[in-house]
Amino acid sequence: MPIHDAYRQRLYPNLAQIAAHFGTPFHIYDEAGIRQTVRDLYTAFEGLPFQEFFAVKALPNPQILGILNQEGCGFDCSSVPELILARQVGAQPGSIFFTSNNTTQSEFAIAQADGGSYLNLDDISLLNRVPTKPEVVAFRMNPGSDMGNAIIGKPEVSKFGIPREKLVDAYRQAQSQGIKRFGLHQMVVSNELDAEVLLASTKLLCDVARQLQDELDIALEFINIGGGLGIPYEPTQKPLNLAQLATGLRELWHDFPQTKLFMESGRYVTGPHGVLVTRVITLKDSYRRYVGVDASMPALMRPGMYGAYHHIEVHDAATDSALEMVDVVGSLCENNDKFAVQRPLPTVKLGDLLVIQDTGAHGHSMGFNYNGRLRPQELLLRADGSVERIRRAETLSDYFATLAHVEADPYQPPQTP
Ligand SMILES: Cc1ncc(COP(=O)(O)O)c(C=O)c1O
Repeated sequence: MPIHDAYRQRLYPNLAQIAAHFGTPFHIYDEAGIRQTVRDLYTAFEGLPFQEFFAVKALPNPQILGILNQEGCGFDCSSVPELILARQVGAQPGSIFFTSNNTTQSEFAIAQADGGSYLNLDDISLLNRVPTKPEVVAFRMNPGSDMGNAIIGKPEVSKFGIPREKLVDAYRQAQSQGIKRFGLHQMVVSNELDAEVLLASTKLLCDVARQLQDELDIALEFINIGGGLGIPYEPTQKPLNLAQLATGLRELWHDFPQTKLFMESGRYVTGPHGVLVTRVITLKDSYRRYVGVDASMPALMRPGMYGAYHHIEVHDAATDSALEMVDVVGSLCENNDKFAVQRPLPTVKLGDLLVIQDTGAHGHSMGFNYNGRLRPQELLLRADGSVERIRRAETLSDYFATLAHVEADPYQPPQTP
């Protein structure tokens, strides 16, 4: 969606100078906007025993995580590097949720180190793999129902979680191993703009909570309803009605006054507060007009990977400029390396800056290095207007670093006589 007015006013007057100072391309994040969104979330859920665990995978930069820590967020981690980042910014054990899958014993050991974290298990078999018997265990439910959407896929064919019909037995087995404190987790919708869909997914969890109480006398300590709160990427989309979601959650929580409500949003918290700024380096007319920019798919995978829409503005375009239909493309040898396909944009010149919007979550963090293309720098627009580089761009030395240590001890096949 077009960048928020407040962010536009903070960023655009100085954008050309910021680009000249740091060079392009870069993602730039808005500290004030991120803080405001977290505050709005906590205000909307006032009265509920609510705690947000920001999904680190969405924007794993310690400067941003530090801001979120100050605003009272915990962290949802799904890998060892994410655990390390959360601890580095000062997250306490009760503020770290570890939702991994296909997890090794050494990963669990790290999740249990330094005071530990909430362990959210993707299968009952993993309980035996946890090195030290945990105080509290959560299980991730796969409802196998019709929930899910294009990004997250159908639960029945998803690798995540424990099927609904096996779930109660997982708690029974954990009880028999001496575990007494429990939580429950689910993440089956992604980028959802309809509060009713998020509530329908939460209701499934509440049904399980009742069954656990009735059959196993388990009073859940927390229910984690996952992330998945959507943001309007397209100008015509309406934002999620947070008040409607909060009202529905309050109704559902009447029956669970002692159970904490955890959420692990990424996109909703930082998504709209980042943009990717990139410069036009090539204009090509073939069967279509192609606008080539100095960023490629590694800077933002979502359009190429999901066909996702990201709104694009031409910075300082003349207000009366005619629109032309273009594809905005990077330099990767992949035809889906496109930030926009057949998009009407004001006439673009070489050297213009394009502002690709809503890149504050699942943007930089998803990038890969195929084709030797490198990920760009990340900048932070501070609330006082200053701009810091919070991650440098990758260099060729980074790319070649793993080749610099060729094994001196090669495998030799057995000699046949
Ligand atoms: C387990 C889990 N929790 C939370 C999230 C965050 O989702 P979102 O950024 O859409 O809120 C994800 C996203 O991939 C996830 O896999």
